[in-house]
Amino acid sequence: MKILLMGAPGSGKGAQGSLIVDKHNIIRISTGDMLRQQIKIGSDIGMLAKKYMGRGELVPDDLIIQLLSERLLQQDASKGFILDGFPRTQSQAVMMTDQDIIPDLILVLDAPDEVIIQRICGRLTHMASGRVYHEQFSPPKVAGIDDLTGEPLIRREDDKFDTVSQRLDTYRRHTYPVVQYYQSIMPEKVVIIDADQPPERVFAAVEPHLHL
Ligand code: AP5
Ligand code: MG
Repeated sequence: MKILLMGAPGSGKGAQGSLIVDKHNIIRISTGDMLRQQIKIGSDIGMLAKKYMGRGELVPDDLIIQLLSERLLQQDASKGFILDGFPRTQSQAVMMTDQDIIPDLILVLDAPDEVIIQRICGRLTHMASGRVYHEQFSPPKVAGIDDLTGEPLIRREDDKFDTVSQRLDTYRRHTYPVVQYYQSIMPEKVVIIDADQPPERVFAAVEPHLHL
């Protein structure tokens, strides 16, 4: 199954993606996680992407499309995947269609801005896996430490109030129109999920749509 996980920053794409992966035999590909990995290793792509991400803007389409196309060619993506954070622009959606990647399900997580800001400002991330925690809503067992690996958790550089406002604006201008595009061409595949409820309740709303 090919699943697109869409929604504003902080709506819970990473959290729900992890829950789906934990329960079902499917991989999650997050373009945000891939970019942070490129920044970590200091690649040219990473250095370029860092400037845009730090400003809460989208990384240029050609760079993202190159990165993702290579990833989708890997063997583990042949049977299906969850795409977290892609496509985010009309050009990225067109690239998918051009490469015959037709989604089976488009999950759109919906939460109000004030909830999003609260979530992002308390988020802790395990960089290697993309696992997310929240200081208040889903704290790790030991403060500052990933439950599974014992490695330290970090605060993402773009998790600042000003950058979050910019990311929300970018979502509205560039990515929400992609949701509307899918609603117009394949409405039966688009499911809007109320993401303003505890993670397990959101997951319960997601599950009936998964045919894995
Ligand atoms: P990306 O990493 O994708 O960030 P984002 O879309 O801004 O989304 P987030 O990861 O911030 O939020 P999320 O929805 O995953 O929420 P999470 O589950 O962590 O992209 C970062 C940047 O990379 C972009 O700004 C852009 O520059 C670039 N980029 C990436 N892809 C690109 C593309 N395709 N094209 C161009 N540029 C691209 O949850 C947030 C917090 O809330 C956590 O603490 C979590 O524990 C908590 N939480 C989650 N769900 C709940 C719940 N139900 N109740 C209570 N707390 C919850
Ligand atoms: Mg995420």
